[in-house]
Amino acid sequence: MIRRAVPLGIGHYLPDRIMPNSHFEKLVDTSDEWIRTRSGIERRHFAAEGQTTSDLAVRAARSALDNAGIDVSEIDGIIVATSTPDLTFPSVGTMVQAELGMTRGFAFDVQAVCAGFIYALCNANAMIVSGQADRLLVIGAETFSRIMDWTDRSTCVLFGDGAGALILGAEEGAGTSEDRGILATDLNSDGRYREMLYVDGGVSTTGTAGKLRMQGNPLFRKAVDKLTSTAEAALEKTGVSADAVDWIVPHQANIRIIQGTAKKMGVPMDRVIQTVQDHGNTSAASIPLAMSVGVADGRIKRGDLILSEAIGGGLAWGAVALRW
Ligand code: UT7
Repeated sequence: MIRRAVPLGIGHYLPDRIMPNSHFEKLVDTSDEWIRTRSGIERRHFAAEGQTTSDLAVRAARSALDNAGIDVSEIDGIIVATSTPDLTFPSVGTMVQAELGMTRGFAFDVQAVCAGFIYALCNANAMIVSGQADRLLVIGAETFSRIMDWTDRSTCVLFGDGAGALILGAEEGAGTSEDRGILATDLNSDGRYREMLYVDGGVSTTGTAGKLRMQGNPLFRKAVDKLTSTAEAALEKTGVSADAVDWIVPHQANIRIIQGTAKKMGVPMDRVIQTVQDHGNTSAASIPLAMSVGVADGRIKRGDLILSEAIGGGLAWGAVALRW
């Protein structure tokens, strides 16, 4: 028997303000048609004025706790994946901890941009498997609307705000691919590609938060290759083939990247959870948001094999294979 990090509950929160593509036609030289055909995005949510990343994270966390039927006193730690924290420090994790009324355990943030939730899951899995924690709240939460350059049509139409939260708990497994929980992980980064996606400000450079800059097309081409190889690497570690995957729950950056990766893996699109049309790219929040939507609408069921993959600034990328 081995320890596994098993999903106990999931939830998400999207801010009320929904921005359709037509909103950007008034801001920059773009069209609903271009945004839909190039990215698959139709609308995205933006946080209200004064609404912070930790506010979104707390709402998602409460929804996951309700879904799991667990009291916050039973949680050992909180890991928040975010690149858009409320403040430079303290962490969003500790803010969420305070807001939830959790006075024991630990909380911290993980920063791997759009791959952040995959990195957070890998951390949580390692802590649970090694016995450092029994129950962890893993959150992806972002307010990318705060780092947009509203004059840059190549980026401002693509991103949105939101949060998703997953609770993982230790359970005994047989050590086979039939076990519930995280079965395999794969992490990668290559700092030589930092110019492809970065923010042009920061604490020790400009002293400002900065704005997002992206070389969309070169990144697009890298993304499909890297996402396919990391997803295949994670799957290989489980010892099962792509045919056995019930759901790909990918990072939601661009429908064409999602389709390209699924095609390379030989997984049909009816086994891929897509939320990019409704959420845009919510960076570290996109995977838990998509997972939560898939669970809530009944598509993802107990026992299903899920493969999640993501790539983002760094570049950093990775994948997790998990049985629901
Ligand atoms: O989450 C982290 C990972 N992020 C990603 O993986 C994003 C990766 N990149 C992408 O999703 C795509 O590259 C984009 C959606 C950003 C762009 O699609 P593309 O097919 O790569 O288009 P492109 O960058 O080659 O641009 C095509 C044309 C250009 O015009 P010219 O030079 O051909 O005349 C752009 O200036 O589209 C133009 N363009 C726009 N036109 C209307 C760029 N942005 C816009 C816009 N509206 N918003």
